[in-house]
This record gives sequence, structure tokens and C-alpha cells, in this order.
Amino acid sequence: MNFKTRRILAALSAAVCAASTAAAMPVTAEDKPGVTAVYATDFEDGDVSAFSKRGDTDTSVLGTAEDADAPSGKTVMTVTERSKGWNGPQIQVDTICEPGVRYTASCWVKAEWYNSCKLSMQYTDADGEVHYGNLAEATSSGDWKQFPETKFSFSEDMHDVFIYVEANDACNLYVDDFAIKTTPSYTIQSDVPSLKNVYADCFRIGGAVTADELSPLATKQLIMKHYNSITLGNELKPENMLDQKACQALAADGDETAVAVSLKGNARTILNFCRDNNMPVRGHVLVWHSQTPGWFFKVGYDPEGDWVDKETMLGRMENYIKNVLGVIDEEYPDVDFYAWDVVNEAWLDDGKPRQPGTYEESGNYSGWTAVFGDNSFIPYAFKYARKYARPETKLYYNDFNEYMPQKTDAIIAMIDEINKDGQYIDGIGMQSHLAVMNNDTTEPFPSVSVYKKALDKFCATGLDVQITEMDATLSKNLAVTDEQLALQAQYYSDLMDCIVEQKDHVSAVVFWGTTDDMSWRAWGSPLLFNEDYTVKPCFESIVDGLQEVGTEPTDYEPETKPTETTEVTEVTETTETTEDSKPATGDVLLGDVDGNNKIELLDVIMLNKSLLGMTELEDTQMIAADVDRSGSPDSSDSLFILKYTVSLIADFAEIAVK
Ligand code: GLA
Repeated sequence: MNFKTRRILAALSAAVCAASTAAAMPVTAEDKPGVTAVYATDFEDGDVSAFSKRGDTDTSVLGTAEDADAPSGKTVMTVTERSKGWNGPQIQVDTICEPGVRYTASCWVKAEWYNSCKLSMQYTDADGEVHYGNLAEATSSGDWKQFPETKFSFSEDMHDVFIYVEANDACNLYVDDFAIKTTPSYTIQSDVPSLKNVYADCFRIGGAVTADELSPLATKQLIMKHYNSITLGNELKPENMLDQKACQALAADGDETAVAVSLKGNARTILNFCRDNNMPVRGHVLVWHSQTPGWFFKVGYDPEGDWVDKETMLGRMENYIKNVLGVIDEEYPDVDFYAWDVVNEAWLDDGKPRQPGTYEESGNYSGWTAVFGDNSFIPYAFKYARKYARPETKLYYNDFNEYMPQKTDAIIAMIDEINKDGQYIDGIGMQSHLAVMNNDTTEPFPSVSVYKKALDKFCATGLDVQITEMDATLSKNLAVTDEQLALQAQYYSDLMDCIVEQKDHVSAVVFWGTTDDMSWRAWGSPLLFNEDYTVKPCFESIVDGLQEVGTEPTDYEPETKPTETTEVTEVTETTETTEDSKPATGDVLLGDVDGNNKIELLDVIMLNKSLLGMTELEDTQMIAADVDRSGSPDSSDSLFILKYTVSLIADFAEIAVK
């Protein structure tokens, strides 16, 4: 195949320029289709009944008061008599939002005195464990601060999901303009080539994705169109696979090397998608210093315990690898795990092992070096992975700054040593977290020639090479301009030229993410797609002049295909139940709880409020709310109405109880 050299910087065509200008424009609220408030209040009506305090021991008193500086109107929510930082108002969102769908939460907050205020989320997982996380943080010193629309989602097996406001100490808090909204319903660009089919003769094209990132339909479509490899962004990492309580119980029972792991709901969300859509997976990651809790290296799995000895740690390593690969084999035998990152980031840029210590003390410390004193744990990791992995799964050593000369050499020397009596390591993962503009100059870091040197060296080992986490950032401090997007396009294009030159040795190019806004380095707009799923100049530059040569399917078909509109279907006599126990619907429009002739999120909220005892429905409203005709409205009806509003159900007759 003849890959034309792509040089778009010097003579960036007017057409590309125009396209990039449109694509790079920030998406304003008015541009966003499909954004609806699931719940919104400015508190002007004095109603705070949708909120509760955070449990029995929370002393907060919720009310409203006038505030001359209120961000909107006159009235705000008051949160007084808080006795702990975590005290505050919460709203349960799993009763008004759908699992697997992305929403935003936003509000204004004011603390009585200097305080770090947080918009947070709590959920209970399938094992009953409660998790807390911060969505946004702002410091208020008696002034109003905005929590702008912050994305969140939750999976099917999470329950009791709350969004709440807290602060670091027990001062009075004030809240205004609280809203939970749906996110825009974008569609992907269909008039661009499929990356995986363009590069089909060279290597796979893949992307990392987190469960939250995968929620929107457009993201699934984007993945199916362009990628034929998925990396789970976080969900298979040790901190998410390990089960501390079960590990402690095993140790207390006398076995310090037994390791308990399980696949959590977030991992399943992605693996189910991969299973249902025949999407191959790069497993990431088994042995790593980061996102591996310190307690995993401590006696009794106790964070305060002593470091275990080498022998115990080897037992834990073997059992961890065996059990992670085992649970995946058992639960997802049909998902093609074609690759696994066995060890990640063990070498520093100067070619030395990491400093000993826990990940909690410093994200750079390694519990592995704390126990082993050096990197002598690495060969064992590959030997165990080889023992328990499927025979067809290729095993990789993966690292960042892999182009730093001493690190490149340390990686190659390590591989030569480990593979001298058999091929334990199949390949090298070049993460490729790169910068188009180093320190705001127009010089990239690394330069293409430095990157190429490392790539060529790795390829010369004869092992397989995969580009595993590619992204290339723009400046942190400068606004995105067409010139910068053009530099990024040129950089990506030049890098792809080098990689294609080595196509016989490279089997995958994986980008670390989907759209720019979801990237871990969103500040640097490092990926190929804009927030609205349009392609960026750097996408254009890597397909420029190339034809699709592959024929892999590029469509995503959701299980229940959403219909185009949310047209209201009048309930006719024929859909009425004839059973005596169920009231006839008569003229009542099923789903239209508030009787305004529209079926919308307000109906869901009204029904939920009644289910929570916050309001009472009239008889006709009860009939309208009982969309599955089970005899009385309940939480299933609420979910059905919600599904109807987002076109996941076309007609309530589909879900009527037989
Ligand atoms: C490293 C890891 C990845 C991921 C990225 C940042 O490169 O290998 O798992 O954590 O950092 O998101």
C-alpha cells in the first residue's frame, strides 16, 4: 500500500482551515441538542423538599432565605446547623436519572467563611459498599462560587446514588440554581473514513475508554466506527480489582498470599459492550506501582502493617495474576483479550528503578521496589502471566517517556535478560503521551526524530511494538487556535508516518480516549475528536490521502434502537387493560403525569416525588403514571417514562404487564 507523505502544515488548505475553525469553536449551551433539565430549581418557590440531609447524624437544617447577592432571583437554599464538613444537602439521582447515561450536575454555592466547598457524589455498589467522590471543588470566602456543569453517570449495579454539597468545615452553606441535566445527544460524523479500515493493512486502531465515557450512544458509535481495540481506562487496574476486606479475611485465616479480586460494575459495563460487539481488548494492567493500594504490600493487608517479605509478595503476585485472568476467563470467555500489559512504568527516565514507598505517599513511589529493593520482580510477573494467560494473548511491558534514551535502553536490556531462556515478553508498549507544544513553544516534546529513534530501536528487538496510550497536548496556558490545531495535525501526521514505516513490527496504535473533553489531559485537547464528536484537523491529517482498505463493520446498533422523536402516542381503547383490578385509561395519556399533554422529564420527577411521599397524585395522575398497567404506579413506571423521554421505549404497550 502506498502511503502518501502528508505535509499539511506548510500549505494548510483553506478547506481544512475552515473545517477546523468550526470544529474547534467551544460548544455553547444553545448549540447543544437534547439538553434537558431532569431537575432544576432556583429555590424561588421556597421548596427544598427534593433535598435531604446526609443521614441521621447529619445535623443540617435545610431551608430558604433571601440573599441580596443571590446568583439568580432573591431566594437561595440555606444549610444551617451543620456540625461536620460532610453535612449538607443531597439529592438522590438514581430515582430521576437512568443508569449508563451521562448527565451534568451544577449549582452555585457560598460558604459563610473561607472554605473549600465540594460538589460530590455517593453511591452504593453491588456488594453494598458505599463510595464517595468529588465532582468539583471551589473555594468560597463568603462569596458565591459556581460549580459549572460537571459530568457524572452511574452503572446499572449502583444504587442509592446521591449528588451532594459539602465543605471542609461546619459553617453555614448556601446553594442556588441547582440543576441536573441530560448531556447533548450528538451523533458522529458519518462522512469521514473509518480509521480502523484506513489502517487495516497496517495495525489495529484502538482507544481507551472508561465506563462513564462509554455512556453516550455517540461514543459507542465512534468506537465502533473507528476502533478495533479497546483498553479499559481504569477498570481492570489493581485498585479496582482488589477486594481489601476479602483479602484481610484470607490473611486473618492464615494465608498471607491468598488474593481476592472481583470484576466491578464499571468493568462489566465495558466488557459487556466488548462482548456484545465483538470488540477485542488490550488488558491493562496487572503489575504497576500506581493505582495499586499500599495495603496490598503490607502484612495482613493492613495499610499500617509492615512490608511483607519477597516470598509472600511473589505468592500474592502469582495469585493476583492468576485470579484476575481467571475471573475474566470465566465471565468473559468470548471477549478477545489479544494483549495484556503485564508490567507498567517500572523504570524511571534515567533508567533506574523507582523509589520504594506506597502509592498513597507519592504517586511515583513503588510498593514493588519497597519489597524487592529493585526491579527483580519483573521477570516473575511475566512468568506468571505466561503461565495463566490464554496462549493467544500477547504480553507487553508498557511505559511512558519511553523515548528518553536511558529508559529506552533500560527497557531493552530488561527484555534481553528476561527473554534469554524463552519468550516471556512478546512486546513493548510505547504509551506515547506526547506534547505538541513544550512549555508553550512551538517545539514538540519529544521531537518526531527523538520518538522515531526509540520506535526504531524497539522495533529492532524483533518483538512486537504497540503504541498504547497515544495523545498529544496543546498548551495549558494558551487558547486553542487554528495554528495550534495545525501544528498538532502536522505532529500526529509525522508520527503516523514513522509508525507506518514500521508497520511490520507494530500491531496496534491505541489513543488514550475518545473525545477531547473526556481526556485525562482535556486541558490540552490532545485527541482526534472534538467534544461534539466532529473530527479535528489531526484526524484529517492522519487519513489525508488514504483510502479505506479494511471492511470491518462500522455501525453500532443499540439493543433497543431509539426512535428519532419522542412523539406522544395517545392511548387508544385497544391498549387498555380489561382486567378489573386495573383502572381504564379513558382519556388519560399514559406517562403524562402532570396532564399537560406532553410526556417529559417533569412527569418522571412528579412521579418520583409522589413515590418519595413528597407530593400526592390525583386519581387521573395515578392512572397516567402507571404506564406498565401493573395496577399502581411504582419505580418501574418512573424508569419506563424516563426511557420513553429518551426514546428507548417507543410505546408503553411494549412494557405493559401481561
Ligand atoms: C498512564 C497509565 C494509564 C493511565 C494514564 C493516565 O499512562 O498507564 O493507565 O492511567 O497514565 O490516564
